[in-house]
Amino acid sequence: MSVKNTPKVTLDELRSQRWFKPHTIRAFAHRQRLAQIGWRREDFMNKPVIAIINTWSDLSPCHSHLRQRAEEVKRGIWQAGGFPVELPALSVGEVMVKPTTMLYRNFLAMEVEELLRSHPVDGAVLLGGCDKSTPGLLMGAFSVDLPIIFCPAGPMSNGQWRGQKTGAGTHTKKYWDELRLGAITEHDWVELESAMTRSIGTCNTMGTASTMTSIADILGVTIPGGCTIPAADANHVRLATQCGVEIINAVWQDKRPSTYITKENFKNAIVAYLALGGSTNAAIHIIAMANRLKIRLTLEEIAEIAKKIPVLANIFPAGNALMEDFHFAGGLYGLMKNLTEFVNLDTEHVLGRTLGEEIAKAKILDNEIIRPLTNPVITLDKGSTLTLLKGNLCPDGAVMKSSSAQPHLRKHTGPALVFDDHATLSAMIDDPNLEVTADTVLILRNAGPVGAPGMPEWGNLPIPKKLLQQGVTDMIRITDCRMSGTHYGSCILHVAPEAAIGGPLALVQNGDLIEVDIDAGTLNMKVDDKTLAERKSQWKPVKPRATRSYQALYQQHVTQANLGCDFDFLSAEGDISEPDIF
Ligand code: FES
Ligand code: MG
Repeated sequence: MSVKNTPKVTLDELRSQRWFKPHTIRAFAHRQRLAQIGWRREDFMNKPVIAIINTWSDLSPCHSHLRQRAEEVKRGIWQAGGFPVELPALSVGEVMVKPTTMLYRNFLAMEVEELLRSHPVDGAVLLGGCDKSTPGLLMGAFSVDLPIIFCPAGPMSNGQWRGQKTGAGTHTKKYWDELRLGAITEHDWVELESAMTRSIGTCNTMGTASTMTSIADILGVTIPGGCTIPAADANHVRLATQCGVEIINAVWQDKRPSTYITKENFKNAIVAYLALGGSTNAAIHIIAMANRLKIRLTLEEIAEIAKKIPVLANIFPAGNALMEDFHFAGGLYGLMKNLTEFVNLDTEHVLGRTLGEEIAKAKILDNEIIRPLTNPVITLDKGSTLTLLKGNLCPDGAVMKSSSAQPHLRKHTGPALVFDDHATLSAMIDDPNLEVTADTVLILRNAGPVGAPGMPEWGNLPIPKKLLQQGVTDMIRITDCRMSGTHYGSCILHVAPEAAIGGPLALVQNGDLIEVDIDAGTLNMKVDDKTLAERKSQWKPVKPRATRSYQALYQQHVTQANLGCDFDFLSAEGDISEPDIF
């Protein structure tokens, strides 16, 4: 698209004009307040006003460069004839925010929605990328449906330790287990602290961050291919500037998300997510994001697509390269080149071109990192990025990344060992007297959206130390919470309905036999219906942890994992109203 394209919107139709143009006392006040900080009328009058929603913070290291990137976005906006205004939004840095950033994804989504609605802006550039930031930003923006461009924060540079490639999250877990076993020293552990995450940017593995920025890219809200540009690369500066230029085009061309994002865009994005070996978190966020555009997408539909798409991107934790390697191997559109038979090539992105056009321009430079369908990283018979399980333990579904399960666990029956909360699990898991064998099925409950609250990433339940010492590296683990995308193992997650609202997970007792069949897609407890009914009649809800504050609001309104964990009142039908200006 070029700035010379005939605009679809006139100057008078710009939303911001309602604030600045009229000959009224109110509009006088709006102009006056910009003059108060030194702007001239010609700086902001008669041009698109663009919000830069910035999720920078000192405690969000993945976003630490976004303060500077905002300036570079502004440069592009000025160049293309717009007026940039930076609006800070909640920063949900994955590692620092407790109990979990998932608790605050909806908070960010609400904030973005209301920031855009209440201010005199015609479009927005969204700056973010750390895990929940991407869905949070997009959910809010989709609800308002103004033209937007998402500028992903970009992955951090490759980690290195003693000649080994190290990836954020994935290797933290690996080396922590080695430390527990005495395979590495305390000194090594300290050294690793500054080796794994050595630059600005989001996690360099295929964790939730890269999964979600890739999904955003294929949905069509970024500059195509932008999601893999390393944060520390000068190209990332240029990406930010280009976002500033292109958002002005998007405003004049009326490129609101609802005008070009269809269910087909979502299906294409799902194909990308699956071939990337992405995070199970995506199964929640995709549903929630689609819902904000009034596109109904179910967990069953995602799981159906998953049956056909093997993992082709050789990136940790499924493979052994990092995001920077993937970028230089051809990046996301290089990967999509190998998936054309599964996607709709006619979907459009915010710049007005099609997926097919972007794929045609892409090149694959390394077939080891971007694998062809004939040589996947993980073949479908060994599992897929997302497997949906159903049964009397999870009537509304549970998910797992079956591609990361060890083969002997694909069909497994074993006795349950139940932990009622995370604190109990942490206190007991390394107890040498814990009654557990490699066949045991570990269960953590009351850790779901309502129970925790916020469904933390506790789902990669640690292997008990005494089993680690016996060489056990994987077990069936079941929970109503989530797992980090950087982790792996036979972890069955997002059990719905969750235990805290009386889902069947609440009724399991130690020793009950749990039967998992990944190929059949089933998860059952071998307890008869009569016994379950009796247990249900005895069940008492766990006391809600929060009685006030945002957390109480969250517990009252969050939906279950299979529905996207949005708030019921935010995913409700109904149009957003424009504010009155008096
Ligand atoms: Fe921010 Fe992983 S901690 S992307
Ligand atoms: Mg993560």
